Parts: sequence; C-alpha cells; structure tokens
Amino acid sequence: MNVPDIIIAIDGFSSTGKSSFAKKVARKFGFLYLDSGALYRGVTLFAQEERLISQIGIVSPSLETALKDLDLHFDGEGRLCMGPRCIEQQIRSMEVSAQVSPVAAVPYVRAWVDEKLHDFGRKGRIVMDGRDIGTAVFPDAQLKIFMTASEEVRAQRRYDELVSKGEQPLLEEVVQNLRERDYIDSHRETAPLRRADDAFELDNSDMSFEEELAWIQGLIQGKFGIL
Ligand code: CDP
Repeated sequence: MNVPDIIIAIDGFSSTGKSSFAKKVARKFGFLYLDSGALYRGVTLFAQEERLISQIGIVSPSLETALKDLDLHFDGEGRLCMGPRCIEQQIRSMEVSAQVSPVAAVPYVRAWVDEKLHDFGRKGRIVMDGRDIGTAVFPDAQLKIFMTASEEVRAQRRYDELVSKGEQPLLEEVVQNLRERDYIDSHRETAPLRRADDAFELDNSDMSFEEELAWIQGLIQGKFGIL
C-alpha cells in the first residue's frame, strides 16, 4: 500500500499499547517512529540524577537552565541516549514512571521537548505517539488516533512488561501509577491529554496486533482513497 507522506499522531492514556502499535505501523508503511514519552522520561531521569526533583515530585527551577546542556537523542535502533549513554532501560523503570507526569506538566520542559519533536516532524512520514501530539504538537497531522483500553488490560500489560524486564512490581502499585499519571496528564494546564475532535478512537482491549493493523489500514485506505 502506497501511503502518502503524512504525519500519524497517536495519543492516549498510559499503557494503552500506543508505542507497540506505533512501531508496527511505522514498520508496515516504512515510516519513522518517534516516542515522545521517551523524551519526557529522559528529562525525568536527568532531573533525578542531578537531584533537581524532590521525593514528592517538586521540580527545582534550576532544571530550566540545566536543560540547555542536556543531550537526549535516539540511536539507530530507536533507543534513547543521554550523551554517550543508552538509557532505554532506566527510563522505563517504576522510579521514572512515578515522577514523569509532574515533570511533563512543567511548561518549559514541554517547550524543550516540543522543539525536538518539531525537528523530527519536518522530515514527514512519521508516526509519533504521546499525549498531546494531535492536539498541540502537530494539530495539522493528517491522521490522528486516540487509543484507549480498559484499566485492567492496561495494568496487566504494564505489569507483564516490567516483569519481563526483571522488575518485581506489585500489580496494585502499577494500577496506582497508571491512575495517577492519567489524572495529572489530563488535568495539567499546558497541553493536557484529550482526544482531538478529528481523532479516530481505537479501543484495543480485546484486539490482536493483526486486528489493529487491519483497522488502520482500512482507515488509511478510506481517508486517502487508496485502493
Ligand atoms: O508508555 P506510557 O503510555 O505509560 O507512557 P509514555 O508514553 O512513556 O509517557 C510517559 C509520560 O510522559 C506520560 O505519563 C506523560 O506524563 C508524559 N507525556 C506527555 O506529557 N506528553 C507526551 N506527548 C508524551 C508523554
């Protein structure tokens, strides 16, 4: 299928499987995949390592200046690096998940991440996932998807993912984290999580990857008149 050079924006609640879906879509259509959440997670890890965030998630104003020297980038395999260090594993930990939403609610952090996202967007043919891609980062994206899934399914997926990476979280702790992040992400002042008016909703609670791909393929064919 010959897909035009569009931007596909995928937003939704925590652990709805946005990044797995986005990666598969990118591979299928030959697009570049970009995980905006990884950048917020990277900034959070940086703030933790530099002691610029307190135990209860209060961000020090010094983070703004410190960000000027922060080098976050993706390597050839799409893993996030901080300078020469690959930080892909650390940014997925419960410690980072526990503090990422307060960090992502800070307006200058969002501006810093947005600048990077726009740089990537200039190249076109990208699939980007996050919370505000279709509403704030690329409001003109030609295809917007808003993903949801039941809380039970989302918590189980995140729990299984953490266990497969060698962590030993409590399911209750995972549920709590999803609820807290969804609340903060949808109630913050700057670019809160919400479904864009022109986004197509995908509830994948009971869907396989094959079904998800068939769904988006049908959507693209219909929207862009591709046979
Ligand atoms: O993988 P999961 O869906 O749990 O989260 P993520 O995409 O890695 O994003 C982690 C956190 O970054 C979210 O809970 C948001 O607080 C923040 N985020 C955001 O504010 N805006 C985005 N475009 C992407 C992520």
